[in-house]
Amino acid sequence: MNKVALVTGGTRGIGESISKLLNENNYTVIASYNSNDEAAQKFASKNEIEIKKWDVSSYEETKIAIEKLKSKYGQIDILVNNAGITKDAPLHKMKKEKWDAVINVNLNSIFNLTSNVINDMRDNGFGRIIHISSVNGQKGQFGQTNYSATKAAMEGFSKSLALESASKGITSNVISPGYINTEMVAAIREDILSSIIETIPAKRLGESNEIAEMVLYLVSEKAGYINGATFSINGGLYMD
Ligand code: CAA
Repeated sequence: MNKVALVTGGTRGIGESISKLLNENNYTVIASYNSNDEAAQKFASKNEIEIKKWDVSSYEETKIAIEKLKSKYGQIDILVNNAGITKDAPLHKMKKEKWDAVINVNLNSIFNLTSNVINDMRDNGFGRIIHISSVNGQKGQFGQTNYSATKAAMEGFSKSLALESASKGITSNVISPGYINTEMVAAIREDILSSIIETIPAKRLGESNEIAEMVLYLVSEKAGYINGATFSINGGLYMD
């Protein structure tokens, strides 16, 4: 039977590429989304992938959504914590709403999702959990105290989870993309984005598929000994 993969924020950007590539490789994929119905419908019309709308920053909504998915699919074998937002502003101008929104969507969501699938994974003796972080969680970025804090926190979460779960056949790993050719990056002011690209040794944005290919490997049975690791995919922008 196909393994079942839940990709949050799975209908657009990096998540869209992950959903499609897993689906092409015989995983049963559910792509969650929260707000952009039009993009989600377009995605659904082109792919044989179930889309499911809920707010991953809500514990209650997430619990209910996962219960429904489990009654339909039996279990979630693979979780890709990909949903994320930016609300950039330097801290001296940052309103609490921007801080809270980013913490809730990017960070609290990973508790909401992971805590609702982890016990089944433990019982089944198999699980793959991938957290999509960011180069800006590793190096910091002007205007992103909120976003960088959540992306750095993902690494601590992932490593602790790896320690707790390794003996049960579960892996938890982080992928840390650089600036990828998505709507999120396209929203950066043009002159600022050009100057960022100048600092990338590869002199270009990354493509979503360059992230999805790593996800495909990490969720496979072959990758069972990779745990608590972080994979930077950033064109050389930051090396650690
Ligand atoms: N380093 C040092 N100083 C900087 C700076 C930087 N990187 N960027 C701006 N400044 C300075 C400016 O020179 C300016 O100084 P003066 O007032 O002396 O002229 C001052 O800070 C204000 O700059 P802005 O005009 O840019 O300020 P703003 O309030 O209009 O905009 C901002 C702030 C929205 C954060 C804007 O700077 C910005 O969009 N920056 C890019 C942030 C970014 O990279 N976001 C990534 C989004 S994509 C993503 O997050 C995906 C991923 O994972 C990579």
